[in-house]
Amino acid sequence: MISSAVRDRGRTRARSGRRAALVAAVVSTVAAGMVVAFAGTASAGTTLATAAAEKGRYFGAAVAAHKLSDTTYVGILNREFNSVTPENEMKIDATEPQQGQFTFANADRIVNHARANGMAVRGHTLAWHSQQPSWMQNMSGTALRQAMLNHVTQVATYYRGKIHSWDVVNEAFADGNTGARRDSNLQRTGNDWIEAAFRAARAADPGAKLCYNDYNTDGQNAKSNAVYAMVQDFKARGVPIDCVGFQSHFNSASPVPADYQANLQRFANLGVDVQITELDIEGSGTAQANSYATVVKACLAVARCTGITVWGIRDTDSWRASGTPLLFDGNGTKKPAYTATLDALNGGTPVPTTTPPPTTPGPTTPPPTSPPPSGGCAASMTVQTWTGGFVATIRVTAGAAGTNGWTTSVTLPSGATVVNAWNSQRSGDTGTVRFSNVAYNGQLAPGQVTEFGFQATGVPPAGSPSCAAS
Ligand code: G3I
Repeated sequence: MISSAVRDRGRTRARSGRRAALVAAVVSTVAAGMVVAFAGTASAGTTLATAAAEKGRYFGAAVAAHKLSDTTYVGILNREFNSVTPENEMKIDATEPQQGQFTFANADRIVNHARANGMAVRGHTLAWHSQQPSWMQNMSGTALRQAMLNHVTQVATYYRGKIHSWDVVNEAFADGNTGARRDSNLQRTGNDWIEAAFRAARAADPGAKLCYNDYNTDGQNAKSNAVYAMVQDFKARGVPIDCVGFQSHFNSASPVPADYQANLQRFANLGVDVQITELDIEGSGTAQANSYATVVKACLAVARCTGITVWGIRDTDSWRASGTPLLFDGNGTKKPAYTATLDALNGGTPVPTTTPPPTTPGPTTPPPTSPPPSGGCAASMTVQTWTGGFVATIRVTAGAAGTNGWTTSVTLPSGATVVNAWNSQRSGDTGTVRFSNVAYNGQLAPGQVTEFGFQATGVPPAGSPSCAAS
């Protein structure tokens, strides 16, 4: 769905056939969860949608149905965005105000507008402790479980084939340091209520990506650790989950965390897409602009970060308008935050050439683009740094004889410590740290490439990693 919707939009907006083809290829390939390699430098996008599409991402906004008659609002929406999320119209109280009586008129207005304008739709949300109609608030136990599952089934079935991603379950974990589930009437129906909702959603709309969505999970903390453990468990047990949404509501008391990108990456490494689903950042001027740029760059640096949605269009449309948290002011004029966002989209890091989840079998191998190194293997490293830490991505290229396995060594400076690694087996965490292949990426043909990564505190090493093949 996203691929065709965004592709079509890219086509209508593209100023040249070459660019249209690039956008189409990139977006459809990313949507299919495949490996992407940028062949050259794309032209700069002049809108959020086209700039994001050139990086293989969508750029969306939360939309209110009653504002679709506001010409300024719709003008910005149609010009700048290629994905929409109904801000309130798909919530349980809106779609099933009386038990068994479904009303889709307002949600349909948004979905129809999106489809008519080539935009994808994020569905928000099927199961949530909040915004329940009074009949559901008063239910418990088996009756509530059945009502919840029926709601998921009915709504997802009604919109089958029209939704790119569903926020199947929203905000089910508690704030604070407990790492516990949030207490709610849904939680009290049994701890398996979340997986039951995901299974019902998959059965109703097998084509939609199914997301878990939450706030205060944007950096690594007790709450995001708990969500991480749930996703890991779901993947291990085959519970259908495709994506995790990071709401990303920021202000001075809750700024963009320093480990935002690393946190997105560790979820992506579980084998799910990650999406920034409700972005807004209170503030103004350069500080706000810089924060938006940080978020966009983080998404572009994570191959499985497939798109960004801002939670409203103009500041005056925001659920917290006094904080002026959006990209357009009340008149619909572009703010510095808009320019920073567009610039970040245009200058962002292309999608890496290999994007395997750690559980994917088989070598992670794009076609070789240069002659293989003469030795057993070669390793090169790129790093993303922040104050106090960094993420390193190491590319291993097999030599002329290929490899059955490989080990790379990285010598960290004093004070640097590895805290997390993926797609490799690690030995040590300080000083000289060795990373060896795992089962699925050891055997490489001559010239084949695979990548792994690690996160560390401290500053990155100055030297290159060594590589030994077996
Ligand atoms: O439409 C009625 C209006 O008729 C009535 O006069 C008025 C009086 O209160 O209420 C209006 O409805 C409000 C609705 O927004 C539309 O403006 C609700 O009271 C109000 O509770 C609702 O707030 C929404 C909130 O979720 C609660 O559902 C916000 O618009 C919406 O931005 C916000 O979005 C949430 C995400 O769904 C989940 N993540 C957090 C995010 C921000 O809180």
